[in-house]
Amino acid sequence: MRRSPLIAPSLLSCDHGRLAEAGRQLEQAGADMLHLDVMDGVFVPVLTFGAGVAASLSESVEIPLDAHLMVAEPQNLLDAFASAGCRYITIHAEVADHLDRMLAWIRELGCKAGVALNPSTPPDCLEWVLERLDLVLVMTVNPGYGGQSHLASVHPKIGVIRRMLDDAGREDALIAVDGGVTGENASLLVSLGTDVLVSGSYISRAPDMSAAIRSLRG
Ligand code: DX5
Ligand code: ZN
Repeated sequence: MRRSPLIAPSLLSCDHGRLAEAGRQLEQAGADMLHLDVMDGVFVPVLTFGAGVAASLSESVEIPLDAHLMVAEPQNLLDAFASAGCRYITIHAEVADHLDRMLAWIRELGCKAGVALNPSTPPDCLEWVLERLDLVLVMTVNPGYGGQSHLASVHPKIGVIRRMLDDAGREDALIAVDGGVTGENASLLVSLGTDVLVSGSYISRAPDMSAAIRSLRG
């Protein structure tokens, strides 16, 4: 029996002039975590916000923050996002030349370590760092934008990663899915082994954000 998923709204589709208020509203609407999409305009074409916004959000809500670093050189930002109060720091496998070292560094900073995989990235890049990570972020869109169509073709990857983690004795590690997550696909994603549902536009554009979050929880 799958446990009930954690709901982590992404702030990407919120008003970037009022992110702290948006964070409070999402917390009041029932969010379990806040997903911060940090983009540098290099790894992905868009520029969003830095650790200063994360610090402001950390002071505005009680729920944990997950910094999804879509940046070309995450090593330059780890200390700042840890100091800003993020509970999770998630880096992309595609840019980490020294993934093992960087995950260890995130944990040394007192944060939980996450690895994000783009849709085309095979899960075997995780094989030798299963002990080093606390969360795997499975991208079901190509990163950079909210409101994109969900790539169901990625679904088999969730089960492969779940088996890799369980076979390594890491039943405690979380699998998060990020991109085009809605009330339509949430229960399927949970049945496939997803623990955390990251959802942006589906929640932030909903007339009733609490109802949208409840619909994801199933
Ligand atoms: C995309 C981001 C996602 C995105 C999700 O690069 O990593 O977190 O904001 O937004 P939706 O749910 O609208 O696809
Ligand atoms: Zn994200």
